[in-house]
Amino acid sequence: MRLVLVGPPGAGKGTQAEIIAERLGVPKISTGDIFRANVSGGTSLGLEAKRYMDAGDLVPDEVTNRMVADRLEQDDALDGFLLDGYPRNTEQAEVLDGLLLAAGVSLDVALELTVDDDEVVRRLSGRRVSKSTGKVYHLEFDPPEDPESDDLYQRSDDQPETIKNRLKVYAEQTAPIIGYYGARDKLVQIDAIGEVAEVTARALSAIGADK
Ligand code: AP5
Ligand code: ZN
Repeated sequence: MRLVLVGPPGAGKGTQAEIIAERLGVPKISTGDIFRANVSGGTSLGLEAKRYMDAGDLVPDEVTNRMVADRLEQDDALDGFLLDGYPRNTEQAEVLDGLLLAAGVSLDVALELTVDDDEVVRRLSGRRVSKSTGKVYHLEFDPPEDPESDDLYQRSDDQPETIKNRLKVYAEQTAPIIGYYGARDKLVQIDAIGEVAEVTARALSAIGADK
Protein backbone atom coordinates (compact mmCIF):
# COMPACT_ATOMS: atom_id res chain seq x y z
CA MET A 1 0.00 0.00 0.00
CA ARG A 2 1.16 3.55 -0.74
CA LEU A 3 -0.01 5.84 1.95
CA VAL A 4 0.57 9.38 3.20
CA LEU A 5 -0.28 10.54 6.72
CA VAL A 6 -1.60 14.07 7.09
CA GLY A 7 -2.34 15.92 10.30
CA PRO A 8 -1.26 18.84 12.45
CA PRO A 9 1.88 18.82 14.56
CA GLY A 10 1.39 16.46 17.48
CA ALA A 11 -1.55 14.62 15.91
CA GLY A 12 0.33 11.37 16.51
CA LYS A 13 1.59 10.86 12.95
CA GLY A 14 4.98 9.48 14.05
CA THR A 15 3.41 7.26 16.72
CA GLN A 16 0.84 5.78 14.33
CA ALA A 17 3.25 5.65 11.36
CA GLU A 18 5.56 3.33 13.26
CA ILE A 19 2.76 0.87 14.07
CA ILE A 20 0.86 1.05 10.77
CA ALA A 21 4.00 0.72 8.60
CA GLU A 22 5.03 -2.38 10.49
CA ARG A 23 1.54 -3.82 10.15
CA LEU A 24 1.53 -3.14 6.38
CA GLY A 25 5.14 -4.31 5.94
CA VAL A 26 6.19 -1.07 4.21
CA PRO A 27 8.96 1.40 5.05
CA LYS A 28 8.02 4.39 7.18
CA ILE A 29 9.50 7.53 5.67
CA SER A 30 9.37 10.53 7.97
CA THR A 31 10.76 13.75 6.51
CA GLY A 32 10.99 15.27 10.02
CA ASP A 33 13.05 12.28 11.23
CA ILE A 34 15.35 12.45 8.19
CA PHE A 35 15.89 16.19 8.73
CA ARG A 36 16.57 15.67 12.45
CA ALA A 37 19.09 12.88 11.70
CA ASN A 38 20.86 15.28 9.33
CA VAL A 39 20.85 18.06 11.91
CA SER A 40 22.43 15.83 14.55
CA GLY A 41 24.88 14.42 12.00
CA GLY A 42 25.93 17.97 11.07
CA THR A 43 25.45 17.42 7.31
CA SER A 44 24.99 20.36 4.93
CA LEU A 45 21.34 19.33 4.49
CA GLY A 46 20.95 19.44 8.28
CA LEU A 47 22.60 22.87 8.51
CA GLU A 48 20.24 24.23 5.89
CA ALA A 49 17.12 22.63 7.41
CA LYS A 50 17.80 23.57 11.03
CA ARG A 51 16.92 27.25 10.88
CA TYR A 52 13.54 26.51 9.31
CA MET A 53 12.79 23.70 11.76
CA ASP A 54 13.74 25.76 14.81
CA ALA A 55 11.35 28.48 13.64
CA GLY A 56 8.59 25.98 12.87
CA ASP A 57 8.62 26.90 9.19
CA LEU A 58 8.71 24.52 6.23
CA VAL A 59 12.08 23.65 4.74
CA PRO A 60 12.12 24.86 1.09
CA ASP A 61 10.40 22.53 -1.37
CA GLU A 62 13.40 21.95 -3.64
CA VAL A 63 15.40 20.56 -0.70
CA THR A 64 12.54 18.44 0.65
CA ASN A 65 11.31 17.11 -2.70
CA ARG A 66 14.81 15.98 -3.72
CA MET A 67 15.33 14.27 -0.38
CA VAL A 68 12.04 12.34 -0.67
CA ALA A 69 12.66 11.39 -4.31
CA ASP A 70 16.07 9.97 -3.30
CA ARG A 71 14.55 8.03 -0.41
CA LEU A 72 11.74 6.57 -2.53
CA GLU A 73 14.35 5.14 -4.89
CA GLN A 74 15.76 2.99 -2.09
CA ASP A 75 14.48 -0.33 -0.67
CA ASP A 76 11.88 -0.78 -3.42
CA ALA A 77 9.96 1.91 -1.56
CA LEU A 78 7.83 2.74 -4.60
CA ASP A 79 6.19 -0.69 -4.20
CA GLY A 80 4.74 0.40 -0.87
CA PHE A 81 5.48 3.16 1.65
CA LEU A 82 4.06 5.19 4.45
CA LEU A 83 5.05 8.84 4.28
CA ASP A 84 4.87 10.79 7.57
CA GLY A 85 5.06 14.58 7.25
CA TYR A 86 5.20 14.73 3.46
CA PRO A 87 3.61 16.20 1.41
CA ARG A 88 3.07 19.36 3.40
CA ASN A 89 1.77 21.74 0.76
CA THR A 90 0.03 21.45 -2.59
CA GLU A 91 3.28 21.83 -4.55
CA GLN A 92 4.79 18.84 -2.72
CA ALA A 93 1.61 16.83 -3.33
CA GLU A 94 1.89 17.57 -7.06
CA VAL A 95 5.56 16.63 -7.12
CA LEU A 96 4.79 13.33 -5.37
CA ASP A 97 1.99 12.54 -7.82
CA GLY A 98 4.33 13.30 -10.72
CA LEU A 99 7.05 11.08 -9.32
CA LEU A 100 4.63 8.18 -8.80
CA LEU A 101 3.11 8.66 -12.25
CA ALA A 102 6.58 8.55 -13.83
CA ALA A 103 7.15 5.24 -12.03
CA GLY A 104 3.80 3.87 -13.26
CA VAL A 105 2.24 3.70 -9.79
CA SER A 106 -0.11 5.84 -7.73
CA LEU A 107 -1.00 6.74 -4.20
CA ASP A 108 -3.68 4.61 -2.50
CA VAL A 109 -4.68 6.70 0.49
CA ALA A 110 -4.09 10.00 2.24
CA LEU A 111 -5.01 9.33 5.86
CA GLU A 112 -5.82 12.45 7.86
CA LEU A 113 -5.54 12.36 11.66
CA THR A 114 -7.77 15.06 13.14
CA VAL A 115 -7.17 16.63 16.57
CA ASP A 116 -7.98 20.04 18.03
CA ASP A 117 -5.37 22.70 18.87
CA ASP A 118 -5.65 22.26 22.66
CA GLU A 119 -4.79 18.58 22.32
CA VAL A 120 -1.85 19.48 20.04
CA VAL A 121 -0.44 21.78 22.70
CA ARG A 122 -0.95 19.12 25.41
CA ARG A 123 0.75 16.44 23.35
CA LEU A 124 3.70 18.55 22.18
CA SER A 125 4.48 20.19 25.51
CA GLY A 126 4.64 16.79 27.24
CA ARG A 127 6.64 15.03 24.52
CA ARG A 128 10.07 13.71 25.49
CA VAL A 129 12.42 11.68 23.28
CA SER A 130 15.10 9.18 24.32
CA LYS A 131 18.57 10.12 23.05
CA SER A 132 19.73 6.52 23.07
CA THR A 133 16.75 4.74 21.48
CA GLY A 134 14.83 7.54 19.72
CA LYS A 135 11.64 6.34 21.41
CA VAL A 136 9.00 9.05 21.81
CA TYR A 137 7.27 9.36 25.19
CA HIS A 138 4.70 11.65 26.75
CA LEU A 139 5.08 12.72 30.37
CA GLU A 140 1.41 12.07 31.06
CA PHE A 141 0.06 9.78 28.32
CA ASP A 142 3.04 7.44 27.83
CA PRO A 143 5.45 8.21 30.68
CA PRO A 144 9.09 7.12 30.58
CA GLU A 145 10.34 5.07 33.54
CA ASP A 146 12.46 7.97 34.84
CA PRO A 147 11.07 11.35 33.71
CA GLU A 148 14.20 13.09 35.11
CA SER A 149 16.65 10.89 33.17
CA ASP A 150 19.47 12.68 31.28
CA ASP A 151 18.68 10.39 28.38
CA LEU A 152 15.46 12.34 27.66
CA TYR A 153 15.29 15.56 25.69
CA GLN A 154 12.63 17.91 24.44
CA ARG A 155 12.53 18.70 20.70
CA SER A 156 13.79 22.25 20.02
CA ASP A 157 10.56 23.01 18.11
CA ASP A 158 8.33 21.99 21.02
CA GLN A 159 8.50 25.43 22.69
CA PRO A 160 5.19 27.33 23.04
CA GLU A 161 6.03 30.07 20.50
CA THR A 162 7.25 27.57 17.92
CA ILE A 163 4.22 25.34 18.43
CA LYS A 164 2.03 28.37 17.71
CA ASN A 165 3.85 29.03 14.45
CA ARG A 166 3.74 25.36 13.43
CA LEU A 167 -0.04 25.38 13.88
CA LYS A 168 -0.28 28.54 11.76
CA VAL A 169 1.93 27.03 9.04
CA TYR A 170 -0.23 23.89 9.11
CA ALA A 171 -3.47 25.86 8.69
CA GLU A 172 -2.11 28.09 5.93
CA GLN A 173 0.15 25.78 3.94
CA THR A 174 -0.63 22.15 4.76
CA ALA A 175 -4.40 22.06 5.29
CA PRO A 176 -5.04 22.78 1.56
CA ILE A 177 -3.72 19.31 0.68
CA ILE A 178 -6.79 17.84 2.39
CA GLY A 179 -8.91 19.37 -0.36
CA TYR A 180 -6.35 18.27 -2.93
CA TYR A 181 -6.68 14.60 -1.91
CA GLY A 182 -10.43 14.90 -1.33
CA ALA A 183 -10.90 16.06 -4.92
CA ARG A 184 -8.91 13.03 -6.11
CA ASP A 185 -10.89 10.58 -3.98
CA LYS A 186 -7.87 9.59 -1.92
CA LEU A 187 -8.83 11.11 1.40
CA VAL A 188 -9.73 9.10 4.50
CA GLN A 189 -10.23 10.98 7.78
CA ILE A 190 -10.18 9.63 11.32
CA ASP A 191 -10.56 11.12 14.77
CA ALA A 192 -7.11 10.90 16.40
CA ILE A 193 -8.29 11.60 19.96
CA GLY A 194 -8.21 8.61 22.30
CA GLU A 195 -5.74 5.93 23.31
CA VAL A 196 -2.96 5.14 20.83
CA ALA A 197 -4.35 1.62 20.27
CA GLU A 198 -7.85 2.95 19.65
CA VAL A 199 -6.56 5.39 17.05
CA THR A 200 -4.56 2.60 15.37
CA ALA A 201 -7.67 0.43 15.19
CA ARG A 202 -9.65 3.28 13.62
CA ALA A 203 -6.85 3.91 11.12
CA LEU A 204 -6.47 0.27 10.07
CA SER A 205 -10.20 -0.13 9.66
CA ALA A 206 -10.50 3.12 7.67
CA ILE A 207 -7.83 2.02 5.18
CA GLY A 208 -9.17 -1.54 4.98
CA ALA A 209 -6.09 -3.10 6.60
CA ASP A 210 -7.81 -4.56 9.67
CA LYS A 211 -8.52 -8.00 8.21
P1 AP5 B 1 7.77 16.81 11.80
O1 AP5 B 1 8.76 16.05 12.55
O2 AP5 B 1 7.01 16.13 10.73
O3 AP5 B 1 6.79 17.49 12.85
P2 AP5 B 1 5.21 17.74 12.90
O4 AP5 B 1 4.43 17.52 11.68
O5 AP5 B 1 5.10 19.08 13.51
O6 AP5 B 1 4.72 16.59 13.76
P3 AP5 B 1 5.28 16.08 15.11
O7 AP5 B 1 6.44 15.16 14.84
O8 AP5 B 1 5.52 17.21 16.06
O9 AP5 B 1 4.02 15.29 15.68
P4 AP5 B 1 3.43 13.88 15.29
O10 AP5 B 1 2.14 14.08 14.61
O11 AP5 B 1 4.45 13.01 14.64
O12 AP5 B 1 3.12 13.35 16.76
P5 AP5 B 1 3.85 12.24 17.65
O13 AP5 B 1 3.47 10.88 17.20
O14 AP5 B 1 5.29 12.54 17.84
O15 AP5 B 1 8.46 18.07 11.14
C1 AP5 B 1 9.32 18.89 11.90
C2 AP5 B 1 9.86 20.02 11.03
O16 AP5 B 1 10.62 19.47 9.94
C3 AP5 B 1 8.79 20.90 10.34
O17 AP5 B 1 8.32 21.92 11.20
C4 AP5 B 1 9.58 21.43 9.15
O18 AP5 B 1 10.45 22.46 9.54
C5 AP5 B 1 10.40 20.22 8.74
N1 AP5 B 1 9.68 19.38 7.77
C6 AP5 B 1 9.26 18.09 7.95
N2 AP5 B 1 8.63 17.63 6.85
C7 AP5 B 1 8.65 18.66 5.95
C8 AP5 B 1 8.13 18.82 4.63
N3 AP5 B 1 7.46 17.83 4.00
N4 AP5 B 1 8.33 20.01 4.01
C9 AP5 B 1 8.99 21.01 4.61
N5 AP5 B 1 9.48 20.94 5.86
C10 AP5 B 1 9.31 19.77 6.52
O19 AP5 B 1 3.07 12.50 19.05
C11 AP5 B 1 3.23 13.73 19.76
C12 AP5 B 1 3.17 13.42 21.27
O20 AP5 B 1 1.86 12.95 21.60
C13 AP5 B 1 4.14 12.33 21.75
O21 AP5 B 1 4.61 12.68 23.02
C14 AP5 B 1 3.27 11.07 21.81
O22 AP5 B 1 3.71 10.16 22.82
C15 AP5 B 1 1.90 11.65 22.17
N6 AP5 B 1 0.77 10.89 21.60
C16 AP5 B 1 0.70 10.28 20.38
N7 AP5 B 1 -0.50 9.71 20.20
C17 AP5 B 1 -1.22 9.96 21.34
C18 AP5 B 1 -2.54 9.63 21.76
N8 AP5 B 1 -3.37 8.91 20.98
N9 AP5 B 1 -2.96 10.05 22.97
C19 AP5 B 1 -2.12 10.78 23.77
N10 AP5 B 1 -0.85 11.13 23.42
C20 AP5 B 1 -0.40 10.73 22.21
ZN1 ZN C 1 6.41 13.29 13.97
